[in-house]
Amino acid sequence: MNFRTIIEPFRIKSVEAVKFTTREEREAALAAAGNNVFLLRAEDVLIDLLTDSGTGAMSSLQWSAVMRGDESYAGSRSYYRFEAVVRDLTGFRHIIPTHQGRAAERILFHTTLKAGDIVPNNNHFDTTRANIEVEGAEARDLVVAEGRRPALVHPFKGNVDLRALEELLVEEGDRVPLVMVTVTNNSGGGQPVSMENLRGVRALCDRYGKPFFLDACRFAENAYFIKRREAGYADRTPKSIAQEIFSLADGCTMSAKKDGLANIGGFLAMNDDAWAVAARNLLILTEGFPTYGGLAGYDLEAIAQGLEEVTEEAYLRYRIRSTEYLGDKLIEAGVPIIRPAGGHAIYVDARDLLPHVPPLAYPGISFVNGLYLEAGIRSVEIGTVMFGLHPDGTETPATMDLVRLAIPRRVYTQSHVDYVAEAVIEVARRRAELGGYRIVTAPAVLRHFTARFEKLR
Ligand SMILES: Cc1ncc(COP(=O)(O)O)c(C=O)c1O
Repeated sequence: MNFRTIIEPFRIKSVEAVKFTTREEREAALAAAGNNVFLLRAEDVLIDLLTDSGTGAMSSLQWSAVMRGDESYAGSRSYYRFEAVVRDLTGFRHIIPTHQGRAAERILFHTTLKAGDIVPNNNHFDTTRANIEVEGAEARDLVVAEGRRPALVHPFKGNVDLRALEELLVEEGDRVPLVMVTVTNNSGGGQPVSMENLRGVRALCDRYGKPFFLDACRFAENAYFIKRREAGYADRTPKSIAQEIFSLADGCTMSAKKDGLANIGGFLAMNDDAWAVAARNLLILTEGFPTYGGLAGYDLEAIAQGLEEVTEEAYLRYRIRSTEYLGDKLIEAGVPIIRPAGGHAIYVDARDLLPHVPPLAYPGISFVNGLYLEAGIRSVEIGTVMFGLHPDGTETPATMDLVRLAIPRRVYTQSHVDYVAEAVIEVARRRAELGGYRIVTAPAVLRHFTARFEKLR
């Protein structure tokens, strides 16, 4: 059909009311939360763009799959369905379910890294970085220079800097047990990686004898970007592009809370037999038996069904366009965002928007809190609070101070998104009223989740 309007490729069968609050109620809620939106009660949030992880709406087919869940401890039918779907998609020999993505990361890194090792990636996500650093290893970001320039429009800003990767493999290769690439690159703005770049990483891994692992949380969104932006892929199905992506790697970590279209779950997959034995042994210790890995049988069913739905073209067309729609509105109003729009989120450049708030006074937190107080919308800082604290206790500004507006899958309608755009534009217009923050208390690792903040006078 040749109409310009791209509609939600579903209709709504069940709805959940959202709660409207007054500004005074939001002020009290944020104060009680130590000015950290992670510590709010979700019911005090009108539109929740904190994350796209585990927050999607499952389809009627997923809910009916839930009823087919086989809860046998060992060898459940649901595991074999899950395994078959994941193998068809990824081609990997060993498929190890985990309760979410970070469990896959912990198992992979705990069984393969030692202190002093280096893991390169385009950009490590926070849990990936933390799970590497906890082993005494270094998480090194090697995204292309374009990926560090928020306003620059480039089709594949998630690409790995292949020259820098080769330099690392030549100079310090004996410290690199594996190479990772995150598709799409969440910490760098939800930007895709091209197939050409993934082939380049594969070639370097072959040349220097390194395993290549994907952080595959948003593989379907990445596949769709390849279809739209990379020569030779326009006529391919998203699923066949995704299969090609996986065929270039030796394994992956996956959070099924994103492109698994499920509310919980993940997996670790790989071809190497010896690594898989070590991974399953640790899995049994910390997650569960290898055919359930910390998940219920019904979770495995929901993920299997979700992985089949997520590569449908109508879904991906709607998904990528609805995120871009929010981005277009903000760009038109002059709000600085990472361009082009990411797959799962829009990232406001808070450092650019709030030049009067220095990075160590956390401009991202300032904008996040301003948006919550103004409109009841919850977003998240991806900047100096998340990445500025180093294992030696020092603090420096992160590369960027961003505010992520993550779009849950199949949850909000176009009018919700129009409301978000209106609110973000209004808060940006009144940016002079936003001030900085200082941290009152915070843990040493992953501090952004539980830190408490105080407004600077
Ligand atoms: C790129 C990336 N990797 C890993 C993870 C961790 O997954 P999970 O939240 O399921 O532990 C996330 C989650 O947000 C992510 O975006």
